[in-house]
Amino acid sequence: MRDQAETLRLKMLKSQGELSKSIAIISGKGGVGKSNFSTNFAYALLSKGKKVLIIDMDIGMGNIHILLGATPQYSLKDYLHGTKEIDEIVNTAPRGLTFISGGSGLDSVMEWSAEMFERLIRAFEHLQQAYDFILFDMGAGATQSSIELIVAVDEIIVISTTEPTSITDAYSMMKFICLQDADKSFSIVSNRVSKYDDGNDAITRLQYAMRKFLGKETKLLGFLPEDPVVHKAVLAQEPFLLLFPNAPITKRMMAIAETFVSPSSSDGFKTGEGFLGKLRSLFTKGRG
Ligand SMILES: Nc1ncnc2c1ncn2[C@@H]1O[C@H](COP(=O)(O)OP(=O)(O)O)[C@@H](O)[C@H]1O
Ligand SMILES: [Mg+2]
Repeated sequence: MRDQAETLRLKMLKSQGELSKSIAIISGKGGVGKSNFSTNFAYALLSKGKKVLIIDMDIGMGNIHILLGATPQYSLKDYLHGTKEIDEIVNTAPRGLTFISGGSGLDSVMEWSAEMFERLIRAFEHLQQAYDFILFDMGAGATQSSIELIVAVDEIIVISTTEPTSITDAYSMMKFICLQDADKSFSIVSNRVSKYDDGNDAITRLQYAMRKFLGKETKLLGFLPEDPVVHKAVLAQEPFLLLFPNAPITKRMMAIAETFVSPSSSDGFKTGEGFLGKLRSLFTKGRG
């Protein structure tokens, strides 16, 4: 009975054509630039007139709010624990970007309970009507809960540097996700490419390994250069996209964002029904 009502609700949402596109930003190795990518990519989409929400999934070790120079009172933790409602944990950053903080305090590195997962689904049902894009800045490593979420989203962006350790960890992470869902596809962003290395070569090898061992084609979304403006922007706690609008890295980021907003972009960008449907089925399958 309940399932039917929910399916109907999702169908209605879809027919209104007002669902957001969900994108997970992941990596194998930590410290490769996920959070900086997420915040600046969000501003790039925002500058193209889209409504964007970032959810910091690095629960307990979140740093999206630090990159945005904000000190939010409540975080995703408070919502998952049931002490706050979803509207109370959505924060506004400069220029109308909205974000949900992962919160700090190491105590809370956790797997979600069934109740928390249900709350998460309910939150997305609510949020996906308000935004064009929901970006999940994923924490390092792969917990069961984070994999469930990654498998459910519409798109996965894998951030990797050109270092062999980053490349092999990115491969392992994609392989792990493919084992959960063989249909998943990936887009790669090659970050911190310096003029001394051949970023293209590293990514070509990664794409080759994906094709040969997993039978998967992976799309290269773009390269982002090694650029001192990133560090400067982190210190200033403002996105480089706003602080350095003419930097080469800003132009590259705008080009990547453009591929997500142009009408020709893959399958159109209103695919949230698939996302919620998947979350639900994973939830029922995994937890009985
Ligand atoms: N393209 C880049 N050029 C220079 N430094 C970068 C670049 N991307 C990331 N960094 C640096 O790498 C560090 C880690 O980035 P962060 O986004 O926090 O990684 P993650 O979220 O994957 O752990 C940041 O402090 C930033 O200064
Ligand atoms: Mg991070």
